[in-house]
Amino acid sequence: MRLTYITIYCAALATAAAALSSCAGRTGSQNTYANAEENSHYSNVRPEDYVGPQVCGKCHANNYKSWRRHPHSSMNMLADRNSVLGDFSGVSVEYAGRRAVFRKEDGNYFADYYDGEAKERTFRVIRTVGSRYEQDYVAVQVEGPEAPGHPLYVEETRLRFAWSIVAKRWLPQSYLEPTEYPGSEYLDDRSLRYDPFVPDELPFNERCSRCHNTYPYDLRFYKIFSEFGRLSGFPPFPGATPQTVQKMVNEAGDEQWLNTVRFPMDRFVTVGISCESCHFGGRIHAENARTQPPRFVPTHPLLANWTPPHEGARERAEVVNALCLQCHHSGETAQDNWPDGSAGVNSMESTEMESGACASVIKCTDCHDTHVSGPPAGAPDRKEHLQACIDCHQEKTSRDAAEAHSLHDIDTASCLDCHMPRIVQGFETYNRSHRISTPTERRIVATGMPNACNLCHLDESLAWTRDALNEGWGAQVSLPTGLRTHFGDDYSIPAGEAWLAHPQASVRTVAVGAYARSELGESMLPVIAQGLGDENAYVRMRHLQGIEAILDRRLGDGVYDLTGGVAERGVQVGELVERFSK
Ligand code: HEC
Ligand code: HEC
Ligand code: HEC
Ligand code: HEC
Ligand code: HEC
Ligand code: HEC
Ligand code: HEC
Ligand code: HEC
Repeated sequence: MRLTYITIYCAALATAAAALSSCAGRTGSQNTYANAEENSHYSNVRPEDYVGPQVCGKCHANNYKSWRRHPHSSMNMLADRNSVLGDFSGVSVEYAGRRAVFRKEDGNYFADYYDGEAKERTFRVIRTVGSRYEQDYVAVQVEGPEAPGHPLYVEETRLRFAWSIVAKRWLPQSYLEPTEYPGSEYLDDRSLRYDPFVPDELPFNERCSRCHNTYPYDLRFYKIFSEFGRLSGFPPFPGATPQTVQKMVNEAGDEQWLNTVRFPMDRFVTVGISCESCHFGGRIHAENARTQPPRFVPTHPLLANWTPPHEGARERAEVVNALCLQCHHSGETAQDNWPDGSAGVNSMESTEMESGACASVIKCTDCHDTHVSGPPAGAPDRKEHLQACIDCHQEKTSRDAAEAHSLHDIDTASCLDCHMPRIVQGFETYNRSHRISTPTERRIVATGMPNACNLCHLDESLAWTRDALNEGWGAQVSLPTGLRTHFGDDYSIPAGEAWLAHPQASVRTVAVGAYARSELGESMLPVIAQGLGDENAYVRMRHLQGIEAILDRRLGDGVYDLTGGVAERGVQVGELVERFSK
């Protein structure tokens, strides 16, 4: 992984100069590292360098106000009446013959697990994770079969039930996350493959806390040569060696944090993502506001040979993108990512973007104001996003030029529709890939993965798309014979139908999402309803969402019980298929 990273990064640097000329109005700078003298006193990475967002807010009231409304600020919170969104009113959630009860007592939040009438475990909720689509809970066991002293009574771990904010219901994690929970819900012996009543023993601060909270950057730096190399945002080279890291650790007496993937939660600057996650420790700036602007690169005397120059850093794509890359790279090695490098599941926007077309110059901030919360995924195209494309690709600015290029009315198909297709599984919607691509790329059409053209033209075949790309754009796309198995001998099966029947689950769910947005959705209901019987819990959940979107109403449990027993569900699916076929 480290190797790939270095390659990508250096390639980006090498092409930066050339690319800039095609991108009027943007500034760049030489990327010479190291400025030992100037860095000899400055530090913005140690615990004592951080001041917390309230201090910043004293002078930057607007940024502070908008950040408070941004999901970054509420990504992780301590559980209390302002943060908890799940239903803890004492509700009982039945699943696979057992029961979980979510209740509140004296301002504390609890989950009890029952087998019949016997209570097996009680957890006390400490933290919340998420506030937009799904809220997870981090808890400590207070009662259970394990002997006293067991880590479950001490460590904070994630509950395996989550509150789906979109569906307004409790669900086992296996209904919400495809990558971690592939395969059938039940094993051949009818036991659960992923039993949510069995506690997750992996501590929260080993897995999740590092991308959801604010802590001194030196802790990230300690992981620079580990499998979490990307945590640092910036690559280790040039200039940083294992010896550099060792010196940093020695200076602070932090050896223990070098040998573990855990994060010390008592070092959090804030629970949740605050100013200094992106701006680094701001004490020097806060105390000398007029003379010392904050630096956009991590700085410390021992890192002088590594850190990129801070002058003009704010303008440089590789610096700004590195800030976001610290966290927006989740799932980059996941099995279900697409063959072109797009994410199977959201949260790896940075990785996607750096493998896409405009990577050498584009910045996250070209489209996102990082202090201002955006609408939920799936919302209509935003003006500033479309504007970003033509700010750089100026030759496509006028309506005529854009339509001459796209061969569609601009209100029918936008730049984003063809170049950032909705193929990434979000929590409720299918998000746009952040890998800016062209539909003519070999790795897209020739692999049979969902392509931008057929995501709208679901009733047309791959052969139709191949021919249209040739006639419209003069592009030569050849379809390999391996695709015949699923797309027909002459690739003439309507692509949407071939995708719905595809052996790969994520192809099916992305197709369901496309039908849910399409006028063709209703005609496909009988086929989509079959997916409600899928053996995988997540796939069923996605089919249910699709059907409800097409019908524009909820199906009650009496019509379809998402988490119900297999036999009962079989009957319900049969009835639904019949009803939709009429
Ligand atoms: C005492 C007041 C004060 C405090 C506290 C303060 N700032 Fe500033 N900040 C300023 C002033 C003054 C500027 C100069 C630019 C301007 O006109 O806003 C500035 C500029 C900045 C800039 C722009 C730098 C650039 O290169 O253009 C950033 C980013 C920033 N502050 C972030 C922060 C963060 C993060 C914190 C908290 C860690 C913080 N500030 C705390 C007063 C303050
Ligand atoms: C490598 C960084 C990283 C790690 C590790 C990580 N996440 Fe995230 N997580 C993200 C990013 C980035 C997003 C935002 C994704 C988006 O909106 O596209 C996110 C979003 C979420 C959300 C949705 C929040 C909402 O408001 O709906 C939840 C829930 C979540 N993560 C839970 C977890 C849990 C639980 C773990 C540990 C098992 C974890 N994450 C580990 C980066 C990470
Ligand atoms: C998710 C990352 C992130 C967080 C969190 C964040 N910032 Fe920023 N901030 C940036 C980036 C990136 C820029 C540069 C944007 C640009 O140049 O277009 C910036 C620019 C600024 C600026 C200068 C431009 C302006 O908007 O006036 C100030 C001041 C600032 N931030 C203050 C803050 C404060 C105060 C907080 C916390 C309340 C904060 N930021 C939180 C990433 C962040
Ligand atoms: C410390 C980790 C971290 C850093 C650094 C970070 N993000 Fe995030 N970001 C997250 C997580 C986690 C979420 C999910 C919040 C949620 O859904 O509740 C998120 C959500 C978002 C969202 C969706 C929320 C919305 O309302 O639009 C955008 C856009 C975003 N981040 C952009 C950025 C950009 C741009 C940067 C760099 C300037 C950045 N982030 C830096 C972790 C991070
Ligand atoms: C900051 C400037 C910038 C922005 C914003 C930008 N691009 Fe690009 N894009 C470029 C540059 C420069 C290239 C040339 C390749 C390179 O150097 O990375 C490019 C390449 C491309 C290519 C590939 C060209 C090829 O022949 O392979 C496509 C397609 C593309 N951009 C589409 C878009 C779309 C669509 C958007 C908006 C979603 C967009 N770009 C936003 C600068 C940008
Ligand atoms: C209906 C689909 C469609 C839409 C809409 C569309 N494009 Fe394209 N675009 C394509 C295809 C197909 C290609 C590949 C052509 C090739 O490979 O020769 C392409 C190629 C490109 C390229 C690289 C080649 C070139 O012409 O410079 C850029 C840049 C680009 N598009 C930008 C944009 C921008 C900006 C928009 C919005 C104004 C846009 N596209 C809208 C389909 C579309
Ligand atoms: C060319 C414009 C563009 C650039 C550059 C861009 N984004 Fe986005 N981003 C979008 C669009 C469009 C959406 C809305 C996606 C949707 O509706 O699914 C979005 C949505 C998101 C979301 C929210 C998904 C959600 O769950 O709400 C996150 C997180 C995000 N972007 C992070 C980033 C990060 C990090 C970068 C830099 C690596 C980045 N974006 C660069 C256009 C852009
Ligand atoms: C966002 C949805 C969308 C995307 C993406 C899209 N199209 Fe279309 N396309 C339409 C619609 C709607 C029409 C019919 C209305 C019109 O003419 O504008 C159409 C019309 C056409 C037509 C002419 C009418 C026909 O059916 O014979 C062709 C050919 C075509 N598209 C090919 C493509 C190709 C190739 C791509 C990918 C490069 C593509 N489209 C991407 C929505 C889309």
